Amino acid sequence: MAANTLGAQLLLAITLICCQRSATSDDVIAALDKGQQLLGVKTSWVTGESVYKFFGIPYALPPIGARRFEPPVAALEWTGVKDARVPGVICPQTSKEESQRLQSEDCLTLSVFTPDLNASLPVLVWIHGGGYHAGSQFNDGDASTLTRYGIVTVSINYRLSPFGFLSTEDDVMPGNYGMLDQVLALKWVQKNIRSFGGDPKQVTIGGESAGAFSVALQILSPLSKGLFHRAVMESGSALAPAAIERPGTQIRVKDFTAIVGASVGCTSANSSQLLQCLKGVDADRLKLAATAAEQKLGVSLIGLPRVETVYGFLPDYPKNLIANGNYSKVDTLRGFNAGEWSFAIQDNDNNGVTRLEFSLFFTALFHLSSFINNDVIVELVARAYLGNETDPFKIRDILVSALADLTFGASSLLELTKIVDQPGTQHYFYEFNYIPSGTARPAWMRVVHAEERQFVFFDPDWTSRSVSDKTVGQRVQTTWTNFIKYGDPTPASANSSAGSDAVRWGKFSKSNLETLQIGAQSATETFPRSFVIQLYEKILQILHMTTIVKFDDVIG
Ligand SMILES: *[C@@H]1O[C@H](CO)[C@@H](O)[C@H](O)[C@H]1NC(C)=O
Ligand SMILES: *[C@@H]1O[C@H](CO)[C@@H](O)[C@H](O)[C@H]1NC(C)=O
Ligand SMILES: *[C@@H]1O[C@H](CO)[C@@H](O)[C@H](O)[C@H]1NC(C)=O
Ligand SMILES: *[C@@H]1O[C@H](CO)[C@@H](O)[C@H](O)[C@H]1NC(C)=O
Ligand SMILES: *[C@@H]1O[C@H](CO)[C@@H](O)[C@H](O)[C@H]1NC(C)=O
Repeated sequence: MAANTLGAQLLLAITLICCQRSATSDDVIAALDKGQQLLGVKTSWVTGESVYKFFGIPYALPPIGARRFEPPVAALEWTGVKDARVPGVICPQTSKEESQRLQSEDCLTLSVFTPDLNASLPVLVWIHGGGYHAGSQFNDGDASTLTRYGIVTVSINYRLSPFGFLSTEDDVMPGNYGMLDQVLALKWVQKNIRSFGGDPKQVTIGGESAGAFSVALQILSPLSKGLFHRAVMESGSALAPAAIERPGTQIRVKDFTAIVGASVGCTSANSSQLLQCLKGVDADRLKLAATAAEQKLGVSLIGLPRVETVYGFLPDYPKNLIANGNYSKVDTLRGFNAGEWSFAIQDNDNNGVTRLEFSLFFTALFHLSSFINNDVIVELVARAYLGNETDPFKIRDILVSALADLTFGASSLLELTKIVDQPGTQHYFYEFNYIPSGTARPAWMRVVHAEERQFVFFDPDWTSRSVSDKTVGQRVQTTWTNFIKYGDPTPASANSSAGSDAVRWGKFSKSNLETLQIGAQSATETFPRSFVIQLYEKILQILHMTTIVKFDDVIG
């Protein structure tokens, strides 16, 4: 049992062990198995609730040296008190967003936030986004904000590309190290979350963008069966174009790995020798070499999770695993943002978008993954969305929807229609359409990628935010945590302190594509562009074709 107040003796011990900060009355101890203790901090929100925070808890041995490009190994137990009061390091990456935090290859840590160390509360494990290349357990928002709703939250780091995903596409270097990190973190939660007031039988995994891809892949992976019970996927599914390495790309990850290797002096065509050499390369040098190779090749979406049977994280393509029905049957809450990819639309003159430009923007989108049948896909999309439309403003509007659909929305809907009939589970779909107050960009761009995260992790200490933002934040957090607690975002039994316009968010089904439109006032509707489900199924087939096809060959 956790004893969460500090005795005088303990205080002395802690002062001796951790020299940088002396213990204060806000310090708190969580007691894990076998005498392991963690020293965390207690803080309070302006709204009065307390939260206990434990940062930088190692769940794996440092994945360095001989352990680089290998499955993670569980961290050793310790004795006595480990200081977990300060946010830890993040995994190596070249993103500017995270440049202010300390990076280290020894980054396999997680943080736990709890409102009550002695309870048995539902748990949310958050898997961050960042295209498998960037981000951290801190980047998507402050997961501790959700503890105010009576849940325990865990936020994890996992290895990013190149460290998490380089692969020779054989038994020597199968890839997926970052995904195995996530699995090990989930096992850590099963083993230890009771010590933080969490219930290991009520675990929801959640994520945004590559975090949502990850959640969807964990649902399909045989390795994570039984480790969680519900799932939240914001802008991402296993069927999304960039969720995994797909066959129909110009540049394969093994070629990419060879190119990166060559640029750091690892030139062997023998995978074992290449691996040995890559294990010895300085981490910074490897990171920069991978980024430089991506820039030179003009692709940014390479070095992703992949199908392999060595570790067996993803033994087959998601569409096949789903079709075979052998995956974790869990409740899901998922959706996307109304303007996901609109930031890619150049319309500085504000004169709209021509039919030709519509196609050019799509060509640029799919080029990020170097899909060989890019042109055919673009043609399919243009025909499906444009009709005879010639008004440049209407075309721009259609383009905003089409980009949002094809990056994230359509693949989520397709996945949903394939799993929704599993008995005993419930599924909820949303479109996020609330533009934060004070947003400077034009309204036609709607809500862009990742913009919903600030409402999911809305911080009560953000006192200067507008009343409308606060209402949406509270409503989203109530809805999300209701799902985490009850499997239903708007249960009749729960008090709907969710705002005056709280609506009943019904289950998604094949016959009613029920969609919660999250706005200043929310409403439910039937998803209006149902044609995208079939369209995306076609596109997914084309993403898997390894030869160049003609448009007429894929029609019908
Ligand atoms: C938590 O439980 C322990 C052991 O059951 C007890 O000693 C302690 O007082 C409890 N703490 C709180 C805050 O309830
Ligand atoms: C489903 O997958 C598990 C591994 O997670 C395997 O043991 C089992 O045999 C599979 N069942 C079927 C029906 O394929
Ligand atoms: C690759 O290198 C390893 C280690 O040097 C060696 O044992 C193996 O036989 C080589 N494989 C091939 C196919 O040459
Ligand atoms: C497009 O225009 C053609 C020729 O004017 C017409 O036959 C067709 O019905 C129109 N299609 C749509 C979707 O409006
Ligand atoms: C439900 O919310 C209302 C308004 O916020 C409040 O007055 C009421 O006490 C709450 N009921 C319960 C059971 O929590």
